[in-house]
Amino acid sequence: MLNWESILATRSSRMKASEIRELLKLLDRPDIISFAGGIPDPELFPDREFAQAYADIFGGPAVSAALQYSVSEGYRPLRAWLAKELAAIGIPATVDNIFITSGSQQGLDYLGKLFLSPKDTALVTWPTYLGALQAFNAYEPTYDQLNPAGNRTPEAYVQAATEAGGRVKFAYLSADFANPTGETVDRAGRERVLDLAEELGIAVIEDAAYQSLRYDGEAIPPILALEIARKGDINTARTIYCGSFSKTLAPGLRVGWICAAEPVIRKLVLMKQAADLHSSTINQMAIATVAERGFQAQVANVHKAYRYRRDAMLAALEKYMPAGVTWTRPEGGMFIWVTLPKGTDGAELLAKSIQTAKVAFVPGRAFFADGSGENTLRLSFSCANDKMIEEGIRRLGDLIRGEVAQAA
Ligand SMILES: Cc1ncc(COP(=O)(O)O)c(C=O)c1O
Repeated sequence: MLNWESILATRSSRMKASEIRELLKLLDRPDIISFAGGIPDPELFPDREFAQAYADIFGGPAVSAALQYSVSEGYRPLRAWLAKELAAIGIPATVDNIFITSGSQQGLDYLGKLFLSPKDTALVTWPTYLGALQAFNAYEPTYDQLNPAGNRTPEAYVQAATEAGGRVKFAYLSADFANPTGETVDRAGRERVLDLAEELGIAVIEDAAYQSLRYDGEAIPPILALEIARKGDINTARTIYCGSFSKTLAPGLRVGWICAAEPVIRKLVLMKQAADLHSSTINQMAIATVAERGFQAQVANVHKAYRYRRDAMLAALEKYMPAGVTWTRPEGGMFIWVTLPKGTDGAELLAKSIQTAKVAFVPGRAFFADGSGENTLRLSFSCANDKMIEEGIRRLGDLIRGEVAQAA
């Protein structure tokens, strides 16, 4: 039998199933209250609107185009709709600055492929989105810590990257309601990231997967908008903005987008021709139809449900967590990030929690490129109802209280 290991590319050695992902697969049990999955609530999907959109496409003249091959850039009316939406948040883009991807996850993979040679450095926050690390890992980079509070000089980054055997290529971050922390980078932090990128001569990848999910507080302009305000033209911008319909409409259709300077878009189009030709035409059409008919109303529905759940989870944490435990207070998104007293291990806590408290969450370590963050965990409130939140956080609080007392 062929020894597959002997013919694998070196890049595949970094494609490992994470222990945590494997563990989380077991959590689909009815007796477990899960705050682990970071997925949208299916109850909120606009399913009737999608049914109508598909019926209209199949019943109308666009059906042939819907079922035919189409252009790699993406369905033009959808790109035009996005251009209008982006203009409203300070990003004056044309359809030529917009490229449709199969979910924003594909965008992250393409950007890793476009920029990273083995040993190059990607700057990421500690912690960061696990899926971004998985996407970039295939291109064999090293990681260095991006801190929007600005604690390192450009020279220090250059030196570390040179020692690692390559150069810094981009800074990747989620500026709004990040996965996993729920935190938002303030305007000064966004400007600092841009300054750093200018000095290093690198790109900024702005992951805006949760940007539309703001429940309170003032919206902060996207990094791309701040950069265009500096330079006056999107085609000279170094920021690459990755958006998604997964958290607002539905993830199953796999429609996301990249908005960036035209030279970047042209490269991405070539990449898509080689990879999958184009994203599903009919799904792009359905997304465009549903978005045109009622995107704002759908987003308002999602806000209402998630705001309520976030508030319920914050109130339960206040009520049940012992002293020494802290957590973020996100203004949007799906996640709350909990920090336990030093010495408490999130992964061990999960194993105990599944046995005794029967509550699931994601231990924080998975989100750190350097494997730190043992004493952190991610809670998602997107799919939980009041009763689950109250009961789950109560049980988790009791378990943590016991652990902390034992360690003392
Ligand atoms: C921060 C972030 N970026 C990107 C994605 C990928 O989303 P999609 O490919 O569905 O657009 C996710 C999904 O959870 C995410 O949390």
